[in-house]
Amino acid sequence: MNKLMLEKLDDMDFQSNEAYKTLRTNILFSGNKIKVICLTSCTPNEGKSSISLNLARSFADSGKKVALIDADLRKSVLMGRHKIQNLEYGLSHYLSGQNTFEECMNETNLENLDMMLCGPVPPNPAELLGSEQFAALIERCRQDYDYVIIDTPPLGSVIDSAIVAKQVDGALIVIETNKISYKFAQKVKDQLDKSNCRILGVILNKIEVHRKGYYGKYYGKYYGKYYGRYYGSYYGNYYGNYGEKD
Ligand SMILES: Nc1ncnc2c1ncn2[C@@H]1O[C@H](COP(=O)(O)OP(=O)(O)OP(=O)(O)O)[C@@H](O)[C@H]1O
Ligand SMILES: [Mg+2]
Repeated sequence: MNKLMLEKLDDMDFQSNEAYKTLRTNILFSGNKIKVICLTSCTPNEGKSSISLNLARSFADSGKKVALIDADLRKSVLMGRHKIQNLEYGLSHYLSGQNTFEECMNETNLENLDMMLCGPVPPNPAELLGSEQFAALIERCRQDYDYVIIDTPPLGSVIDSAIVAKQVDGALIVIETNKISYKFAQKVKDQLDKSNCRILGVILNKIEVHRKGYYGKYYGKYYGKYYGRYYGSYYGNYYGNYGEKD
């Protein structure tokens, strides 16, 4: 196997580290049949590729053998972002039958983490992802790895991730805070449901945690409503209004 050197890996701060540990634990508790997971979103730029890599790193750090597959055949960012120099063959080579699994899967400088990157952009990504070759790839990865994380393009833009979702055990939907309407998220969920894919959950990304308002708002609304309703019915309007104000 070829070995890739990834540079510019972020050192995660305490909060991010904790968030990934929580995500990892939630996936573990989703059942031992959850091995192959894809990530998608409604629109571009919500954080799928960053989260795919960090989630894969988090599983690898915990001692699991992990494969990260870059199935965004239209716009792969990992090569450029992490200054990967020596990729020989990628997913598009494998899916088009030009090269073997061993030639296309790579070890990395991260312990326990192997990667199959996109390779040259093919003219027919959706067709390749729907092929028997892709199903065979997933089967092979199931045998060789504890977890397989698949990065895909946004489902609001192209159909690729719904095609990938047919082969996986669960999907995670990445949602950028304050960007996506309920209706849009619902549409993407419905599309994944049509693939008979189990939705493991939603990752709310790009939250400004340092702003005082985050916790303030959360607790404010929660307690506000709770006490508002509760006291409202017992003590009348004063507390009721207090609750409404949040
Ligand atoms: N939690 C976060 N906080 C701040 N910036 C973030 C966060 N997650 C991702 N980003 C930034 O957002 C940008 C888009 O991230 P990324 O490439 O992971 O998104 P994507 O969903 O894979 O995009 P695309 O749909 O184009 O493939 C990057 O510049 C990344 O560094
Ligand atoms: Mg991406």
